[in-house]
Amino acid sequence: MLMPKKLLLYTNCWEDADMLLAALDPGPDDRVLSIGSAGDNSFSLLSKGPASVVVYDTWLPQLHLVELKKAVFQVLDYEAFLAFLGFTESTQRMAVFREKIKPLLPQEAQVFWERNAELLRRGVIHCGKLEHYFGLFRRFVLPIVASKKDVAHFYAGPPSEADLAEYRRRLAKPFFHWLLKIFLSEPLLKATGRQPVFFNEVKINLSEYLFEKFAGFILNPESHKNHYMYYATFGHFGKGLPHYARPENFEAIRSNLDRMTLRHGRLEDGLVAEQNATLINASDIFEYLPMTDFKAFGERLAAHCPRLRRIAYWNFVVDRVLSEVQPSHFQWETDLTTKLSAKDKIYFYKRFVVEGPTRSEVSP
Ligand SMILES: C[S@@+](CC[C@H](N)C(=O)[O-])C[C@H]1O[C@@H](n2cnc3c(N)ncnc32)[C@H](O)[C@@H]1O
Repeated sequence: MLMPKKLLLYTNCWEDADMLLAALDPGPDDRVLSIGSAGDNSFSLLSKGPASVVVYDTWLPQLHLVELKKAVFQVLDYEAFLAFLGFTESTQRMAVFREKIKPLLPQEAQVFWERNAELLRRGVIHCGKLEHYFGLFRRFVLPIVASKKDVAHFYAGPPSEADLAEYRRRLAKPFFHWLLKIFLSEPLLKATGRQPVFFNEVKINLSEYLFEKFAGFILNPESHKNHYMYYATFGHFGKGLPHYARPENFEAIRSNLDRMTLRHGRLEDGLVAEQNATLINASDIFEYLPMTDFKAFGERLAAHCPRLRRIAYWNFVVDRVLSEVQPSHFQWETDLTTKLSAKDKIYFYKRFVVEGPTRSEVSP
C-alpha cells in the first residue's frame, strides 16, 4: 500500500457497529476475526463476550491506534476514557498518556505515539484522514449550502412535509448540485479523504453516485437521529455515541480485553492462521481487490474456516459478493441483510452483506 499523506486513515470506524453486531450476533463460543481500522467495531464485538477477537490490519498506524484504545480501556475510568480519546474536552492528554497509557503499549507503539504526540493532544478520534475530509466539508461546503440555523433544525427533527419539500428544492438547485459533486468527486476524495488504492476497482461516476446517496440521507426522515452523520456535520458526537463508547458497554469491553489479540497482516493470512474462526468482520476490504483475488479469498475461507457461521462486510461502490461468485460455498442471509440494510446509518455504502456457509457445508 502507498504511504498515505496522513498517517491514520480513520480514527473512528465508519461502518455501522449496531448493524454489524446484529448481523454477527457473537456468543460465548464464537471466535471472531475482525479488520482493525480504528478498532471501534472490534471492541463492540468484544463487548458481547465471544471466546476471542483477533484483529488484523495491514496498515501499522491503524494497529497502533487499536493498541492505544485497548490500553485506554484497560487503565482509565469511563470519564477519563472519553476525555483522553477526544469525545470530551481535556488539556491533560499527554500527561495521562505518559503516566498511565504508554507503559502498557508495545515498544513500537510507544515510539509511534511519542512521534505523533500532537494527535493525542488534539484528541485522537478527530485526527484521521477521513475525519479531516469531513472537517473540510464543515468549513468550506456546509456554510454555503445551509445556515447554522438550518443545520440545527435538520438535527432537531423529525422533518415536516414542508421541510422535506424545501430539502428537495435545494438539492435540485444546479449550484448546490455542482458544489456537492465537486466535493464528492474521486480526485478530491483521493487527495483528502480515502486512500487512492481503495479506488482501484471503481468503474462508475463516483460523484454522481455519492450525490444520490447524500440526497437519500437528507430526505430520510430518520436522519436527524444519526450520530455518525452528526459527527461529520459538527465534528463531535453530540447526538449519541458509537457503540464501543457508550457507558453501558464500557465494563463489558474492559473485562474481555484479554480475549483480544492484534496482528499486523492481511485478513487473508488470518484465515489460515486462525483456522477456527466462526465469525468474520471484513469491513469493506473486498472493494479494491481484483475479482481473481476476491475469489481466491472465498476459496481460502471455505478451505480454512470449516466452522464459519457468518461473515459480514460492506460494498462501498464495487460489487463483491461471495455467494454470487461461490454459491457452492456461501449463501446470503437475505432476510437479515435486507432488514439490517434499511437501517444503515452510514449512508454511502452500496450494500451490506451477511453470509454463511452453504447449509450442506456446516460442520457437525
Ligand atoms: C478497508 S479500510 C475501509 C474503511 C472505510 N470503510 C472506507 O471505505 O474507507 C479499513 C481498514 O482495513 C485495512 N485493510 C485493508 N485491506 C486489508 C486486508 N486485506 N487485511 C487486513 N487489513 C486490511 C486498512 O488498512 C484499513 O485500516
